[in-house]
Amino acid sequence: MTADISAKVAAQYEALPYPPRDPVDEDSRLIGTWLDDLDLLNHHCFRGERVFDASFRVLVAGGGTGDGTIFIAQQMRERGVVGARIVHLDLSAAAIDIARARANRRGIEGIEFVQGNLLDLPTMNLGQFDFINCVGVLHHLSDPELGLAALLPSLGPDGAMAVLLYGKLGRIGIYQAQAILRHLPPPASYAERVDQAKRLLAKLPRTNWLARSAELHPDLHQGGDAALYDLLLHSQDRAFDVEEIYRWFVDDRKLHIYLSDVHRGRLPYLPATWLHDLPELAAISAKPEREQESLAELIGGDLVLHAFFATRLADTSAPFGDLDYVPFFLRESYPASGPSLAAVIDGHQSKPFLLTHTQSGLRREMKPTPAVREIFLGIDDSRTWREIFDLVRQRDGLGFAARFGTEPDEIDQRLFAEFSPWYQALNSIERLLLRRKNFDKPV
Ligand SMILES: C[S@@+](CC[C@H](N)C(=O)[O-])C[C@H]1O[C@@H](n2cnc3c(N)ncnc32)[C@H](O)[C@@H]1O
Repeated sequence: MTADISAKVAAQYEALPYPPRDPVDEDSRLIGTWLDDLDLLNHHCFRGERVFDASFRVLVAGGGTGDGTIFIAQQMRERGVVGARIVHLDLSAAAIDIARARANRRGIEGIEFVQGNLLDLPTMNLGQFDFINCVGVLHHLSDPELGLAALLPSLGPDGAMAVLLYGKLGRIGIYQAQAILRHLPPPASYAERVDQAKRLLAKLPRTNWLARSAELHPDLHQGGDAALYDLLLHSQDRAFDVEEIYRWFVDDRKLHIYLSDVHRGRLPYLPATWLHDLPELAAISAKPEREQESLAELIGGDLVLHAFFATRLADTSAPFGDLDYVPFFLRESYPASGPSLAAVIDGHQSKPFLLTHTQSGLRREMKPTPAVREIFLGIDDSRTWREIFDLVRQRDGLGFAARFGTEPDEIDQRLFAEFSPWYQALNSIERLLLRRKNFDKPV
């Protein structure tokens, strides 16, 4: 990274700390950042076995005005944890001031705020971390690879990163608008540049690619000047497609990645989301995951970001099919619960129906069975599958468990098999997660 470009980026975030936040708003709302949900992180990066206690060490690199930092710190507080290490690193003093004021407003103590360049991490002696959040930052470096190279020595051996990079396909309209703006005489001040961009936006015909894809970029009109500047006038930004992310993180860096779009999870990365009744789907589903995800990106066309976890270890997701795991609903899916899903099945008189979820876009034809209904009734966010299945067997007035076999093991396997499509559907949007019994019970 040249000093010049770094200075430009730094100057932008000093003038327009991003995202714009008013500390007073901490009194009335908590902003949840998708990849920083500790339950989601635990499920995908620590096999649902991570205990979030005082030994947990977090680095938020390029933490900006503090969304991720505050959300993580707040969750630790809700868990009653005191003393976990949370370091918030950013180039911009103005952004750090806002993040610090937000923490103060909440009465959260102990966050270490560090003003600095993440490229200097290898010489900053901050130690290693279990979790590094680097969201919306690497794509602003002149050499994003240098940024990742600087972060990795700070990542512990079984650590996890949360990364968010701009998505190439979904942002096509943005880059075309940026190109148009580069043809116009550049105004001197931030305010004049924002004003010029707004005037241009107002003139774009409906045929323009940004105008056509306006719904993909709500921040353009609703996010204020800092968001508009970030989208259209940033001095430095790059975007990536799925294949490029695999080449970079997996092939070159030997990391393992798990893509989970904000509020939608894996759904937009699954070709079946759109091609479910296409005869070719079986052949497509046999292809490597990476190819399927690239294909889904092309089909959907709306991935403006790629949000993903990156781990050093393989197979870090909690396993479905282990009796000692507790199924539970993601906190933001409230009021969804096991009994509420059972009630949905009852509402359809136990006939096949289209399971829909507006926020994620899930639409899947499901076939309820008596066992599935009973399992949902047993999910209370604290029982293990073993305890749920015991309950199902006890309540089994319909006798389906007896038809599944005589041995408890055999019955358990059948219950898992019956529930599997439901777990796959709800887990594909991250609403139903797993943690191992006695590991990190949310308050
Ligand atoms: C788009 S904002 C994202 C902020 C935050 N991660 C979030 O998602 O809300 C990018 C942030 O990265 C910071 N940043 C950019 N380059 C950096 C670098 N080399 N070292 C540290 N921070 C950097 C900027 O100052 C800015 O606050």
